[in-house]
Amino acid sequence: MKAGNNHRLKGRSLSLTLVVLIVTTIALWAWEKNPFANTLLLAQEWYIAPSSEFHVDARNDSVVSMKPTEKIVVNISDSIITKAEENFGTAPVDSISALSPETIDRNEDMTSSSETKVCNYAKGRWVADSRRPLYSGLGCKKWLSAMWACRLTQRKDFSYEGYRWQPESCEMPEFERSAFLRRMQDKTIAFIGDSLGRQQFQSLMCMATGGEESPEVQNVGKKYGLVKARGAIRPDGWAYWFPKTNTTILYYWSASLSDLVPLNTSDRNTNVAMHLDRPPAFMRRYIHCFDVLILNTGHHWNRGKLNANRWVMYVDGKPNEDKKRNEIGNAKNFTVHSIVRWLDSHLPSYPHLKVFFRTISPRHFFNGDWNTGGTCDNTTPLSGGSEVMQDRSSDPVIEGAVKGTKVKILDITSISKLRDEGHISRYSIRGTTDVNDCLHWCLPGIPDTWNELLVAQI
Ligand SMILES: *[C@@H]1O[C@H](CO)[C@@H](O)[C@H](O)[C@H]1NC(C)=O
Ligand SMILES: *[C@@H]1O[C@H](CO)[C@@H](O)[C@H](O)[C@H]1NC(C)=O
Ligand SMILES: *[C@@H]1O[C@H](CO)[C@@H](O)[C@H](O)[C@H]1NC(C)=O
Ligand SMILES: *[C@@H]1O[C@H](CO)[C@@H](O)[C@H](O)[C@H]1NC(C)=O
Ligand SMILES: *[C@@H]1O[C@H](CO)[C@@H](O)[C@H](O)[C@H]1NC(C)=O
Repeated sequence: MKAGNNHRLKGRSLSLTLVVLIVTTIALWAWEKNPFANTLLLAQEWYIAPSSEFHVDARNDSVVSMKPTEKIVVNISDSIITKAEENFGTAPVDSISALSPETIDRNEDMTSSSETKVCNYAKGRWVADSRRPLYSGLGCKKWLSAMWACRLTQRKDFSYEGYRWQPESCEMPEFERSAFLRRMQDKTIAFIGDSLGRQQFQSLMCMATGGEESPEVQNVGKKYGLVKARGAIRPDGWAYWFPKTNTTILYYWSASLSDLVPLNTSDRNTNVAMHLDRPPAFMRRYIHCFDVLILNTGHHWNRGKLNANRWVMYVDGKPNEDKKRNEIGNAKNFTVHSIVRWLDSHLPSYPHLKVFFRTISPRHFFNGDWNTGGTCDNTTPLSGGSEVMQDRSSDPVIEGAVKGTKVKILDITSISKLRDEGHISRYSIRGTTDVNDCLHWCLPGIPDTWNELLVAQI
């Protein structure tokens, strides 16, 4: 690390911090004013969805609206963690950051060190490419949820499938699945996050298998405790193993990236402690198995979702009493910072592990919101431009949290903002037809590009 460089960087980041602060303040203000703007049908998740929202029909994976009396019952005993893990996870957050500089330097070679100039993959442009998509939307039935496979819906326009992202000045190797699997020999790639993380997981499964039926790929969910609990509509995640290269790709559902612990395990309507300052138990338990970890969160951070799920904020093992932290934007920022700090302090113990924090996936509701008739009807790709020129991420929370740590940013926000035509839109398979999905993406589609960017940076 060179001292001169450091000073220049500091001066520059000071003024940038100011800009970020102002922008974030405005964003947070807007967020708090209209929390439901961030709610979408992510209700296809566990715990209890409110009557006004939706859940996923387990038989065909479509989103259906719920009758007010219906409740999703979850076997919450599965979330209970052992005493040892409890202690591991509840180390005071502040003590975590007390890392010696030696520890950090020794491990710099495993991630982008501050000396090598890191290329900004998020700066560049979309270009038409006849070699896209990377797999067939009809041929990847095995890994895609029917609700996200737009080729299986009434949708007739598929021009959104024919583009790739060209970073301005980074090496962007063409994705080739056998080369990818060879590189991932003996490795485990784990996605932890909300349903947008699940989309990225399904996309990578299609990319890695080519979307063909792949009888050799085995379901190894059990190995990670990913089995459907009695009464649940589906497991908390999935894990698949590629025997030829001994590669595992898995996904675990954690919408908030905080540790959820039911307060009364014998009460199915119990409140759930949402520990903002410690990672999900699953992550703590299996982190030693992972070689690549991709995190995301964002769209569940609103008051409606928290209330519906009976999530109660906890900090330091106790109900949160800090009024400022109780504000959703602050709570999210605190959680993201906590998990990044936790990872940064534990990474020295897992030298093979690379962690990426994916920035937020943009929503595109026009003329209303998800529940007030908002739509995303444009079918012409890139009608709003094809280039991202800015240097900074459009997600200042994630950008701020990973700064100066060994956790890398997978910045897809601005890139994806240009692709409003790539959402499920009105073609959602669901019980009610009056709601457009302008949050999730068609697959194949935009999340494939997120994976190409991921693979280029592993
Ligand atoms: C999915 O299943 C539900 C109930 O089982 C049914 O009402 C709905 O029509 C099905 N959707 C599709 C697309 O098959
Ligand atoms: C598969 O990879 C794991 C590491 O992820 C390794 O521990 C194991 O020995 C490998 N198995 C074989 C058969 O090579
Ligand atoms: C919940 O899961 C636990 C352990 O996985 C099991 O022992 C228990 O019988 C289950 N309870 C219900 C109601 O399914
Ligand atoms: C937990 O829930 C059960 C069932 O509703 C109830 O009987 C019990 O009193 C509760 N325990 C505590 C400690 O609140
Ligand atoms: C997020 O949290 C970090 C660490 O506590 C703090 O430095 C930063 O100012 C916070 N950002 C926002 C936007 O609240």
